[in-house]
Amino acid sequence: MKRMIALLIAFVLALSAAFFVNAATEDEISAKWDSITKNDSVISITPGADSTQMNFCWMSDLFSDDAFLYGMKPDLSDAEGAEIKKSLTAFFKKECNVTLEGLRENTTYYYRYYLGGLQSDIYSFTTDAKDEGFTALFVSDAQIGRSGDWQDDKVKLHDTTGWYTTLEQATENHPDISVCLSTGDQVQNATASVLYNLFLAPDTLRSLPIAVTPGNHEIGSPYLGHHFSNANEFENTVVPATIARPYYFTKGNALFIVLNTNNVFMLDHEALIAEAVETYPDAQWRVIMMHHGVYSCEDKDDDNPNNRNALVPMFEKYDIDLVLSGHSHMYSRTYVMKNFEKADEGIVYIEGGCASGSNCVLTPEELPDYAVVGNRIKSPVYTVLTFSEDEVGVEAYVVENGESVQIDETTIVRNERDDSNAQMSTGNKLLHFILSLPNRFFSLFY
Ligand SMILES: [Fe+2]
Ligand SMILES: [Fe+2]
Repeated sequence: MKRMIALLIAFVLALSAAFFVNAATEDEISAKWDSITKNDSVISITPGADSTQMNFCWMSDLFSDDAFLYGMKPDLSDAEGAEIKKSLTAFFKKECNVTLEGLRENTTYYYRYYLGGLQSDIYSFTTDAKDEGFTALFVSDAQIGRSGDWQDDKVKLHDTTGWYTTLEQATENHPDISVCLSTGDQVQNATASVLYNLFLAPDTLRSLPIAVTPGNHEIGSPYLGHHFSNANEFENTVVPATIARPYYFTKGNALFIVLNTNNVFMLDHEALIAEAVETYPDAQWRVIMMHHGVYSCEDKDDDNPNNRNALVPMFEKYDIDLVLSGHSHMYSRTYVMKNFEKADEGIVYIEGGCASGSNCVLTPEELPDYAVVGNRIKSPVYTVLTFSEDEVGVEAYVVENGESVQIDETTIVRNERDDSNAQMSTGNKLLHFILSLPNRFFSLFY
């Protein structure tokens, strides 16, 4: 088995000998460089709490007039306005949030937004069917600005080109993708607004809802929270969320719970998971998204050494099926794991690699016992997850010279659900409530 893995790694490394460049896309991005780097007001679309909702978010000047119209006709001749919730930011801008509710299943809607007398193009999005399967794009560590000095335009252009190409390749080859799951480090430097402008620049992200996760590179600025409006944000943490709150949402037949693993206070994570599972107990699949992995193929687990011991039993208690993470910049997948060992039933852990090809060091010579696959590749990597009633199909790809080359494929089989222990103990519940009181009070004002 190890020989096969070594051959696979050698094959992929041979393919990736030349540093990734997609000249056509790079030229296209260069042509609009000024406008996309300066556009602080680019809109994001994020999953709603369920199939009947969708969220939108953008930043605008303090005194500009903002509006959001949506309808079912491509020219918006039937458009109606949506309520915009506005809040001040520390950047002399305001954050604008829209939540559309009561949307029909399997329906295409159109929208446009206005700011300061300017109107956007008309974009579209399509809702899915409640409780049914769907296809997701899983990415991590696009980390725009990581391949060198982030202030160098050539570095930003390289990483942005990789990110654009990943999105283009994934959605062209898998047109049924209806959500993008990003497990953190969207940008290299969280205080640099321009990096978020570039992360959000691909037009694909006007129609494809994206669920982002706070990474360690998002520390230091609340920009992440100002650019994305998330469903079911969890306010009642003990440790205040200075970047963006953790949250959860359902998509088709799956519940996604997004942790902020920069916070190492484990009761906060359990309180979030318990609330999510209690709110959506019938979702067929339970998926955790978090930045720091617990079964990394290198020493990255050491960043938060308590994570594996604390989080694995918690995930098993709440009958999680799949854990998606990043941080290592290495695509890896574990065997089915239970109680820290390989098992017939349990949880599969996948780390998404680097979606822009912005960073890579060598793959370790020997993989840990728990890893089926572990590849660090100097080109963009993405994974397609196909959720059906009893299985999730996993296909991972590396993008080379504008082509997608498969590097992993498997099927995850759903476990029998056992919720007999899926709740916080009374003592922990009480302790968490008391400790979170200061932040609950503080949350009333931000
Ligand atoms: Fe990271
Ligand atoms: Fe990273």
